[in-house]
Amino acid sequence: MAFSFSSLFSKEAKSVIGIDIGTSSIKVVQLRRDHGRVVLETYGAIALGPYAGVEIGRATVLPAEKIAEALKDVIREANVTTLDAAVAIPYSSSLVSIIKLPPGVEKQLAQVVPIEARKYIPVPITEVQLDWFEVGGGKTAQGEDRIEVLLVAIHNDTITKFRSIASEAAIQASFFEIEVFSAVRAALEHGIAPVAVVDMGAATTKFYVVERGLIRESHIINHGSQDLTLAASRALGITVVQAEERKRKFGLVEPPATITGGQAVLAQAADLRKSIELSLSPLLAELSRTVSAYEQRMNQTLGALVFTGGGATLKGFKELAQTKIQTEVRLSDPFGKTQAPAFLEQILKEAGPEFSVAVGLALRRLQELG
Ligand SMILES: Nc1ncnc2c1ncn2[C@@H]1O[C@H](COP(=O)(O)OP(=O)(O)OP(=O)(O)O)[C@@H](O)[C@H]1O
Ligand SMILES: [Mg+2]
Repeated sequence: MAFSFSSLFSKEAKSVIGIDIGTSSIKVVQLRRDHGRVVLETYGAIALGPYAGVEIGRATVLPAEKIAEALKDVIREANVTTLDAAVAIPYSSSLVSIIKLPPGVEKQLAQVVPIEARKYIPVPITEVQLDWFEVGGGKTAQGEDRIEVLLVAIHNDTITKFRSIASEAAIQASFFEIEVFSAVRAALEHGIAPVAVVDMGAATTKFYVVERGLIRESHIINHGSQDLTLAASRALGITVVQAEERKRKFGLVEPPATITGGQAVLAQAADLRKSIELSLSPLLAELSRTVSAYEQRMNQTLGALVFTGGGATLKGFKELAQTKIQTEVRLSDPFGKTQAPAFLEQILKEAGPEFSVAVGLALRRLQELG
């Protein structure tokens, strides 16, 4: 998929591109700042399945060369016109945790955090790049004051791999950012109440709790959108390719009675809905439990669950999720933070969740350029 309308805009300001290399597809979004507004210039996605010899929509594990090849292809297909890039690092290649330190060490974090980090990181500290952000204070169970630091570690091998992808694809990566920060930047308004951002990818779903713009908690749930396809393929006796096509075409929405193919197609879509509902139920139940557990532990209510990721673009997903989850369910609308031609509004709203990470990266790069 690719769409370009950069020709509609003048070219004076600097354009930047956000690159999200997911397990099932690469997403790119090109933005430009124009008189303080953020203009969407182009976006596109390319499935990685074909580069790994598996079906579209499936998670893959690919060497840097193959990823670089796909990245070059999507950059060409989407008519990307800049090399100034920001690239996401998968959450699964990082370690994110909150560490609690005694008050008074604020000025010595550079010494204290790496020492403390040894307790949290399962590999030698020399093998990772460490980063940290103060996220506020709190009290221990005994009522003692604590400062809380969000610790982020990325393995050196991961950075090396992403550097080599960037150089093979001939882009200039200004920074690498763990996808959680990009997704949250694109998905949220500046609210105060804690909300959860839920990124539904191909093989897994990532769950982040965000409060006052800061990430409080994050973890991975082992259910993703490819599970729906694989289960539908088995239940309906169709190929994985057919199941993926039907999942994207019909989703959970009943097609109009006048659809070509008539009764047979309506029956297929009804079988598909049953299968998808069944396979979504463990994920939705786990999300509900995760929310309750968080609310009980922290003694505070989550304001909303904001869904992102390709899996959340399933037609009818929001409505189904809302029947199973008590907290308000929303879909992320990252393109809502950008200016685009009005006729694209509906398309961009529907595609938005898939592009949250890529939009979030490009937004940060624009901020950096000022
Ligand atoms: N229109 C659609 N309807 C339903 N599902 C869809 C649609 N478009 C994409 N998907 C599903 O979304 C999933 C991919 O989502 P996404 O692109 O966010 O994953 P990813 O970033 O590659 O994975 P991850 O973040 O876990 O590495 C695929 O399993 C695909 O089948
Ligand atoms: Mg992803």
